[in-house]
Amino acid sequence: KDPRIDGIKTKIRVVPDFPKKGIMFQDITTLLLDPKAFKDTIDLFVERYRHMNISVVAEARGFIFGVPIALAIGAKFVPLRKPKKLPGEIIFEEYELEYGSDRLEMHVEAVDSGDRALVVDDLIATGGTLCAAMNLLRRVGAEVVECACVIELPELNGRERLEGKALYVLVEYQ
Ligand code: PRP
Ligand code: MG
Repeated sequence: KDPRIDGIKTKIRVVPDFPKKGIMFQDITTLLLDPKAFKDTIDLFVERYRHMNISVVAEARGFIFGVPIALAIGAKFVPLRKPKKLPGEIIFEEYELEYGSDRLEMHVEAVDSGDRALVVDDLIATGGTLCAAMNLLRRVGAEVVECACVIELPELNGRERLEGKALYVLVEYQ
């Protein structure tokens, strides 16, 4: 295991009973407050993906980790947004959340068939968000090479929803 990973994990704040009772919330905003740990996080992804011919990095809603990774590996960045934020022609996917359901939209012209995609998110819980993101990319003909998350909650079995697609994570919370 890379020695930087323990330092990253210590900077993630775990908040019990947020946003509602019984939910343990992994708060990455405290990781962002530590420039060393934040940079280590981005570096670990960049070291893995810089030689994989990734042409597009896509991320849903947060855009915190995907943007610096895209810049560093020389890929375009495609935001997957909540409804009514994108002015161009869009496609959408409905998905279930740990709490509630929602929809992601993507600009159709942003991705080409033949693009090699990396899907980034801060966290995988049920896998619904990553699934919706992958479906959007596949529908326009992109190849999803891998999904990458800072945090995995393995008990929620999100990995199974990815149907064998490779998932790379830095830290797990049981
Ligand atoms: C959180 C998190 C992931 C998603 C993971 O986002 O940032 O995107 O949940 O859950 P899943 O694996 O069950 O789909 P959320 O939709 O809560 O909102 P945000 O990204 O806008 O903060
Ligand atoms: Mg999110």
